[in-house]
Amino acid sequence: MAAERTSLFIFFGGTGDLAYRKLYPSMYNLYKKGTLREHFGVLGTSREKLTDEQFRDQVRKSLGTAKTDKDAEKFVSHFVYEAHDVTDKEHYQVLKKRAEELDKKYELNGNRIFYLSLAPSFFGTVAGFLKTEGLTDTDGFDRVVIEKPFGRDFDSAKQLNDALSKSFDEKQIFRIDHYLGKEMIQNIEAVRFGNTLIESLWNNRYIDNIQVTLSEKLGVEERASYYDNSGALRDMVQNHIMQIVSLLAMEQPVSFTDVDIRAEKVKALRSLRVYNVAEASTNFVRGQYGAGDSQRAYRDEDNVPHDSNNDTFVAGKLLFDNYRWSGTPFYIRTGKMLADKFTRVDVVFKKPLIDIFSFPQNHNAPLEANVLTMYIEPHAGFSLRLNAKTNGQGFQTEPINLDYFVDAKDSKATPEPYERLLHDVMKGDGTNFSSWQEVSYAWRFVDQIRKVWDLQQPQFPNYTPGSMGPASADELIQRDHRQWVYRLNK
Ligand code: BG6
Repeated sequence: MAAERTSLFIFFGGTGDLAYRKLYPSMYNLYKKGTLREHFGVLGTSREKLTDEQFRDQVRKSLGTAKTDKDAEKFVSHFVYEAHDVTDKEHYQVLKKRAEELDKKYELNGNRIFYLSLAPSFFGTVAGFLKTEGLTDTDGFDRVVIEKPFGRDFDSAKQLNDALSKSFDEKQIFRIDHYLGKEMIQNIEAVRFGNTLIESLWNNRYIDNIQVTLSEKLGVEERASYYDNSGALRDMVQNHIMQIVSLLAMEQPVSFTDVDIRAEKVKALRSLRVYNVAEASTNFVRGQYGAGDSQRAYRDEDNVPHDSNNDTFVAGKLLFDNYRWSGTPFYIRTGKMLADKFTRVDVVFKKPLIDIFSFPQNHNAPLEANVLTMYIEPHAGFSLRLNAKTNGQGFQTEPINLDYFVDAKDSKATPEPYERLLHDVMKGDGTNFSSWQEVSYAWRFVDQIRKVWDLQQPQFPNYTPGSMGPASADELIQRDHRQWVYRLNK
C-alpha cells in the first residue's frame, strides 16, 4: 500500500469535462492504491445547481465500470458540492464553512489543494478571494493547481502570474502540463542521466539533430471556440513541446529535485535563440487542414469562421546558442488531422566520418545514421538503430534495431498523467509542473513567431487529412539536407 496523503481538494470547475473525464477517475485510482484513504475530502464547485447526492451520482458515473466496485461507494461519500459564483465574494464564506466541516470530519490538518479548472480570466479573482476570505488561512499547506492555457502570450501570462502571486508563492503554484505526467517523458531524464553511453554522446559533436513529433489523428472536435483562438502554436508548442525540448536540452541537474531540475530547464530555455522576423519566417511553417475523403476542412468545422487563418499544424527549427548544442538543430512538429496519433522523439546521431564499408564491389549502401527513438505514446519504448553486418558470405552492412517496449501488463499499470500529477501536488513536488520562468521563456520564444505570422497572409488550407502536414514542413528540414525520421510511405 502507498503512503496515505491527507488533503482537502476544492475543485473550481468541478462539474467540467476535465473533472469527470480525468480528475475523479484519477483520484479513484489513488484511492485504490491507498494514497487516498480515510483522510481526504472533496468539495466540488461550479455555477451548476446540484445537491451533494446529485454530484456524487455524477462522480460515480465518471468512474465507468468501476462504479459498482465495493470501494466506490466509500470513495464517493467523501465528495460534497456547493454551487458557487467565483465573483461573489460573500459566497466564499459558504465554501470556507464547508471546507472547515470536511477538515474536521476527515481530520485533514488544514491541508488544502485548490484546483482551478476554469477560464483563465478567473484565476486572479479566485486566488484573490481564497486569500482575502480566509480559505488559505489554515495550519496546513495551501496549494493551487492551474490548468492550461496559462495566458495567450507573454503579457497576458505575466498578468495572470502577477495576480496569482498576490495570494500564493511560486512553490505553492502547480501549473499543469499533462505531458510532464507521461511515463515516457519522465523517462527522458532516466535515459539521459542514467547511462554513460548516452549522456557522453549527448551533444553537438555526436548528435546531428533531434526531432520531436506530436501527431494527432483527430481534428478540432467540439473545442473549436477555444482552439480557433489558440492554434497549434499556443496549444501544443508553447507548453508541451517546449517542455519536452527543455528536458532534452538541459544540463544534468545537481540533484533530482524540482528546484535543481527547474533551474537547468530554465537555463536551457534561456539559451534558446529568440528569432527575429527573418529567422521566424524561415524557421517556422504553419498549416491548416483542408477537406479529406470523409472529412470536412477545418474552416467548415462547427464554430470555426469560414475565413479562419488559425494554424492546425506547426513545424519549426529551434536553435540553442550554447556550448552543448550550437550547430545541432531541434526540429519540432505537431498538428491535428495527421496520419496517426503518436508522440515520439528521434535523436539522430552523426554518421561515422569515414565509411569504410561502402565499397562498390559489395553493392553496399552508405552507412545510415544511428537513431535513438523514444516512443512516448501510444506504445511506450525505445529503439536504437545501429549498423551491423548482414548474415552470411561477403561483407555488407544493414541497419538493425535494438528495441525495448513496455509490455502490455506494465502499460496497463502505468498511472494516468493526472493520477501522477495529483499525487505530486499532495507531496508538494513541483518537478513535473511548469515553473513561471519556464512558462515565460516559452512565451517569449513563441510570441516572436506569432507576431510574424500575424503580419502574413497564409495560403490555407495547405494539407490533407491523413498526411503528415504541408509540403513546407518537409521543405523546412530538407533545406538543411535532412529528413524527418518518421515519414509516410517509408
Ligand atoms: C492538449 C491540447 O493540451 O493536449 C489538445 O489542448 C491536444 O488540443 C492534447 O489534443 C493532446 O494530448 P494527448 O495526451 O492526447 O497527446
